[in-house]
Amino acid sequence: MQTPGRIRVLDILKSKDTGKEFTVKGWVRTKRGNKNVAFVALNDGSTINNLQLVIDVPDFDEELLKQITTGSCIKAEGILVESKGSGQPVEMQVSAIEIYGTANSENYPLQKKGHTLEFLREIAHLRPRTNTFGAVLRIRHAMAYAIHKYFNDNGFYYLHTPIITASDAEGAGAMFQVTTLDLDSLPRNKDNEIDYSQDFFGKHTSLTVSGQLEGELGALALSQIYTFGPTFRAENSNTPRHLAEFWMIEPEMAFYEIKENMDLAEDFIKYLVKYALENCADDLAFLNKMWDKELLERLQGVVDTGFVRLDYTEGVEILQKSEVKFEYPVFWGADLQAEHERYLVEKHFKKPVILTNYPKDIKAFYMKQNDDGKTVRAMDVLFPAIGEIIGGSQREENFDKLKARIDELKIPVKDLWWYLDTRRFGTAPHSGFGLGFERLLLFVTGMTNIRDVIPFARTPKNAEF
Ligand code: 4AD
Ligand code: MG
Repeated sequence: MQTPGRIRVLDILKSKDTGKEFTVKGWVRTKRGNKNVAFVALNDGSTINNLQLVIDVPDFDEELLKQITTGSCIKAEGILVESKGSGQPVEMQVSAIEIYGTANSENYPLQKKGHTLEFLREIAHLRPRTNTFGAVLRIRHAMAYAIHKYFNDNGFYYLHTPIITASDAEGAGAMFQVTTLDLDSLPRNKDNEIDYSQDFFGKHTSLTVSGQLEGELGALALSQIYTFGPTFRAENSNTPRHLAEFWMIEPEMAFYEIKENMDLAEDFIKYLVKYALENCADDLAFLNKMWDKELLERLQGVVDTGFVRLDYTEGVEILQKSEVKFEYPVFWGADLQAEHERYLVEKHFKKPVILTNYPKDIKAFYMKQNDDGKTVRAMDVLFPAIGEIIGGSQREENFDKLKARIDELKIPVKDLWWYLDTRRFGTAPHSGFGLGFERLLLFVTGMTNIRDVIPFARTPKNAEF
């Protein structure tokens, strides 16, 4: 289907139909020229590239042309001609203009180019109109599409897991409570505890930190599922890699052991990066030029390289031998910090690393216990510039072992009876992982702050737009 009433800038720039009449609509990036001719760079968000409009000034009303300023929205009709200038193959010789919306140059915040990313975060409602955010948002879309395509082509079903949950058993992080109780007058029971039986769902509920537990229910029926939805963590971590609301992709597969889980994670990421290189070439070239001269090289590197697979224990040994002064100490049993992960990936191996067999005490209750009694079949995929991009594991499918671990950690079984039922009835070896969508986008776009790869970031003290 054609775009109604106009041709997109992306399509007209590829058109061979010079001499024909077209209508375009979009936002003015720049206007320059003299009293005879004006050149307007028009962008409609369909591409990083602008269409050059050539306007013979004497043919138009002066007042109308004055309204064409950076940020204004216009419709232009005209003939497509081969461009005389360099930089673009075609341009439009304009015959008619309509102004949809002006943008007063005195106070339009994007009047000038070259704003910092920090400033643009303060005007997140307008930053999609910049080249950088246009590129990032188109890449974000392309990656979301590629994720669905990858799983669909490989026999996975998209499972919609709930966003509101009554279980906080995952232990992945602090949760946002969901309630309709009147906070100024909370109902209390006879022990003076808040009476959640009067709350909307009749129990204490929160926003989910992960779709995994419900994902497992799906995998143990449909064999291979994935979730792709928003997740919420209420930690007060103000870092360039954490959001309070982020998107996560969680495949969960019956009959996969940890080795196949790692193979899938590696194949999946490589597919996505390759997809970006093939389908987002213009946007990536722009980001490479503007922000990160090594971006394209790094992306190609990931596609071409085998990921290192390493036991946690060996990883710790390498870190201890490194003679680097880390901020956080390294010892067997320590939860590795981004500085440690990045040392392994960027300095030691110079490749993505999949770290496995972590100490059970630093990982979630559901991970498959190894025979050594100390470690679990966890896997974290560690990436250059980012650190952890994927966390996952083989799951403990044995009822008795899983129940013992739940009891050991004093997790209330009343919240998890439905989860334990999968191990009671037709249990199976199974595995899965979670890919942080914005962490993937940090890698693919080369942006260095996670607030810059989501349209509207939710971080502590920040939910304005
Ligand atoms: O390692 P995590 O906590 O794993 C889970 O939630 C498992 N239930 C996944 C599974 O096995 N199905 O989170 C998975 C990934 C991390 O590796 C990271 O990429 C991302 O989610 N992530 C965050 N991204 C942005 N902001 C945050 N606060 C994040 N916390 C985790
Ligand atoms: Mg993790």
